[in-house]
Amino acid sequence: MTDRDQADATSDHPPEAEGADGVVVENVDVAYGDLQVLWDVSLEIAAEDRIVALVGPNGAGKTTLLKTISGLLRPTDGRIELFGTDSADLSPAEIVRRGFVHVPEARNLFTEMSVQENLQMGAYTTREQYQETLADVYNVFPVLEERADQAAGTLSGGEQQMLAIGRGLMARPRILALDELSVGLAPQLTERVFRKVDDISDEVTVLLTEQHVTEALELADRAFLLENGRVVAEGSGDYLLESEHIREAYLRG
Ligand SMILES: Nc1ncnc2c1ncn2[C@@H]1O[C@H](COP(=O)(O)OP(=O)(O)OP(=O)(O)O)[C@@H](O)[C@H]1O
Ligand SMILES: [Mg+2]
Repeated sequence: MTDRDQADATSDHPPEAEGADGVVVENVDVAYGDLQVLWDVSLEIAAEDRIVALVGPNGAGKTTLLKTISGLLRPTDGRIELFGTDSADLSPAEIVRRGFVHVPEARNLFTEMSVQENLQMGAYTTREQYQETLADVYNVFPVLEERADQAAGTLSGGEQQMLAIGRGLMARPRILALDELSVGLAPQLTERVFRKVDDISDEVTVLLTEQHVTEALELADRAFLLENGRVVAEGSGDYLLESEHIREAYLRG
């Protein structure tokens, strides 16, 4: 019996078992006004997953999906279960508090504030564990400790990306969603940031969106391919790397 069969077999029970440790997106539609951009999207992110990738071309709906799970957008149909609770009535802040933390593509750093002040802003849900969490983040990103007093706006692009990730980690997430990690980074830096993500995923489930399909699939245990607002393929990263559709549409050679 697969997990999915099991969930079906017990579907008349309260939705405690399935998704209790992760996120379940069920048949979700999302629109901006009259413009529908997500169509019947279903996927699961389990706490056991290390890295889950959401890949697809520009405009496919990756960011829209992250914003919807974060509670910034609301589905027009379908439902989202977050760690065992229907998220329909949860505010974005409550969703962060429960452990889903979204690092947006624009990074949204406070450029005039220092590195450490930016990290502090990320800890608003976890003040008691602030010192311990800060030490953990500095352990992952020593460069941030070296530059603790430097204004965030003066960091290099790669350092700013690490700061954005570090600020996300300050909320002690169960799932850390990273939107377009590699945007604006040189290939070498991208590789370095990806390696960090791999390290982080020992402790926390990472959900990442990427246009760099190959790199993301190589890193991911599980991946979903979004095209035109629909999930058109899913499976292990290796499986998708081998799939004919992915190879033809996204990989050269
Ligand atoms: N605020 C908005 N108002 C109207 N349409 C929007 C808005 N934000 C996004 N869209 C549209 O929704 C679709 C999905 O956009 P989204 O940003 O989710 O794609 P994406 O997969 O993240 O793309 P990219 O790889 O370029 O980041 C696009 O057609 C986009 O133009
Ligand atoms: Mg996007």
